[in-house]
Amino acid sequence: MSFEPGALPAGGMIPLCVPEIRGREWEYVKDCLDTGWVSSVGSYVERFEAGVAARAGQGHGVAVVNGTAALHMALKLAGVGPGDEVVMPSLTFIAPANAVHYLGAHPVFADAEPDYWQMDVEQVRGFLAEECEVGNGVLRNRSTGRRVAALLPVHILGHPVEMGALMELSERFGLPVVEDATESLGGTWRGRPLGGIGHFGCFSFNGNKILTTGGGGVLVARDKQAAIRARYFTTQAKDDPVEYRHEEVGYNYRLTNLQAAMGCGQLENLEAYVEAKRRIAQRYAAAFEGRPGLCFMREASWAHSAFWMSTVRVDPDFGGGSRNLMHQLGMRGIQSRPLWQPLHLSGAHRGAQHLGCSVAERLWKEALSLPCSVGLSSEDQERVIEAILGGNS
Ligand SMILES: Cc1ncc(COP(=O)(O)O)c(C=O)c1O
Repeated sequence: MSFEPGALPAGGMIPLCVPEIRGREWEYVKDCLDTGWVSSVGSYVERFEAGVAARAGQGHGVAVVNGTAALHMALKLAGVGPGDEVVMPSLTFIAPANAVHYLGAHPVFADAEPDYWQMDVEQVRGFLAEECEVGNGVLRNRSTGRRVAALLPVHILGHPVEMGALMELSERFGLPVVEDATESLGGTWRGRPLGGIGHFGCFSFNGNKILTTGGGGVLVARDKQAAIRARYFTTQAKDDPVEYRHEEVGYNYRLTNLQAAMGCGQLENLEAYVEAKRRIAQRYAAAFEGRPGLCFMREASWAHSAFWMSTVRVDPDFGGGSRNLMHQLGMRGIQSRPLWQPLHLSGAHRGAQHLGCSVAERLWKEALSLPCSVGLSSEDQERVIEAILGGNS
């Protein structure tokens, strides 16, 4: 099922998550149209990348066509290449694993931890400490003989991975960290913005994200030279733009000024939108508190989650289980959605090593994301809660 805003029957369907466009987007986009600055060079591109980098607490931002391209470039600049391995979670949308694959590298999938459903950093520690070895200054996975080249934590659903423990591993094993913060702009770990803790951070602005540019991404980098290289690679690696000389293979990955203009309008409302997401999550949490069979996603004491997607774990005997509940909600005009098939089970990444992913498998079977658009009214949210609890308490 997909619901475009224009197709919603009045007062009828409650979609999972639709864009909120209530700021100066029209004004900024019109400015591009009026001035002819519509393509990938323009003042809004620079303003947007600087704005996202500032929100992420990183020095440098590079705007790109989408979050997947941001991940691809960040991993490349982190030094990941053919035959390398990248440690990442199994429970995530597939894009970061695909970005690893684009570089000819291999994902190693870690489980989710049961409390906040994020990448299990303790399991990653066990893998690096016990299943890898250093030889000639290179960290290798003993079972495959491949170089382990990077850590790729994904802050799923708006909540941070435990970045303190992860950054310790980064230092101890000399591994760069690429944060996939595509779902978590506006969230923090111990007060530090997500995407701004590792060496690189990646954001997405597709239609269901907290902010949208229709489609778009930004990669942020700690290191200025890395950002310069990112700009070079994302604009076809031009060595001489007049003579069209190219020493390396580049990509046509830059965001357009039109999309960046929309992003600048969206960015002005980031704090308000994250607050709205948090209010929605708090209402669900309060409604489901103490209800046998339901466990709403939790927030760690060290986290300020952006609560991108309000998600509840449903026991198999509550409402006939998550898929049955999804069906029941759908019959009442309410859209809900399971989490992603864990990637160690995905045919697209068949054969990749995993470290034991039972929590991810359980969450896949039991978790359900509920309507949580920034503009969700309290009446519509009550309708969702009533539909879940009404027939099942
Ligand atoms: C965790 C995660 N990583 C990467 C992406 C890719 O972003 P995009 O759709 O902008 O390519 C998404 C969203 O689609 C995502 O949820």
